[in-house]
Amino acid sequence: MNAEDLTIIITGASSGIGKAVALELATFKPTMVIVARRQRNLMKTAHLLKKKGVKVLPIIGDVRNRDDQERIVNLTMKAFGSIDILINNAGLGKTNLFIDQPESEIDELIETNLLALIKLTRKVLPIMKEQGRGHIINLSSTLALIPPYPLAVYSATKAAVKTFSDCIREEVKEYGVKVSTVFPGPYKTEFSKVAGYGDSGFQGYEVTKLAKNIAKLVTKPKDDLIKPWFFIPLVWLTKFSKFMRKKVIAGIADTIMVAKRESDIIQETKQKKEEVEVIAR
Ligand SMILES: NC(=O)c1ccc[n+]([C@@H]2O[C@H](COP(=O)([O-])OP(=O)(O)OC[C@H]3O[C@@H](n4cnc5c(N)ncnc54)[C@H](OP(=O)(O)O)[C@@H]3O)[C@@H](O)[C@H]2O)c1
Repeated sequence: MNAEDLTIIITGASSGIGKAVALELATFKPTMVIVARRQRNLMKTAHLLKKKGVKVLPIIGDVRNRDDQERIVNLTMKAFGSIDILINNAGLGKTNLFIDQPESEIDELIETNLLALIKLTRKVLPIMKEQGRGHIINLSSTLALIPPYPLAVYSATKAAVKTFSDCIREEVKEYGVKVSTVFPGPYKTEFSKVAGYGDSGFQGYEVTKLAKNIAKLVTKPKDDLIKPWFFIPLVWLTKFSKFMRKKVIAGIADTIMVAKRESDIIQETKQKKEEVEVIAR
């Protein structure tokens, strides 16, 4: 099938990896359905895609919401008549010691990163089966493979995404449907801010190269994509050496915890300054 005949749904295209992948895929000129909650940001992505000559349908919606899940699939089918690729990218992290993590954060993490991904996949698969072709690309994380304690629930959802993808890959291959899992390391997006350690100046890698690699999966599907590359030997090392596993995981956990504390202090200082300004007025 020609790339320009593909209909691609990307969730979480209002920022970060989802937006970068959408812009990268634009070079193929496919039809794109982009989804996110923030209207302004999503419309900005839609505008950039249109400028690149892409037929795009932006859907403002929350992937956790059952009606929105149905709307995403129904509107796509109504407008374009097929779904060739679903990129389950929408997701978030919340950094906290598990003992301190509010239930609302636990719910949000599981509902967004796991439940919504499973439900959207469940809705799209019968269509792909009927078509005799399709490709599901699920965003996991390297933290699914080397999980640090301040992101226990997040890491658990991403490990579940890996397991889910591995299972359904075997089930759906007979229908001509492929399943890929992407495991990004730390990338420079809004992720760290949403996760609660972004104000510390924590830096990740630029998303452009990662987006190119994810876009490449469309023409050259792979089961697993781990990026940046050096996480591949790191993951192997932590698999075979208990000592290294503990050391690497402790290193990541400490880095995140320090960044989270610094962020909290910056936020508290900002808040106090604002309170003083209000009193002074
Ligand atoms: N950046 C990293 O270091 C990193 C590493 C490993 C894995 N990942 C994974 O990569 C994916 C993309 O993250 P990112 O780094 O690009 O972070 P990001 O810049 O914060 O983007 C997250 C995207 O998900 C969307 N989203 C979140 N909750 C949603 C909901 N309930 N309904 C609809 N859309 C929702 C956001 O849009 P709205 O807020 O507008 O809804 C946004 O477009 C996530 O699954 C993340 O876990 C990221």
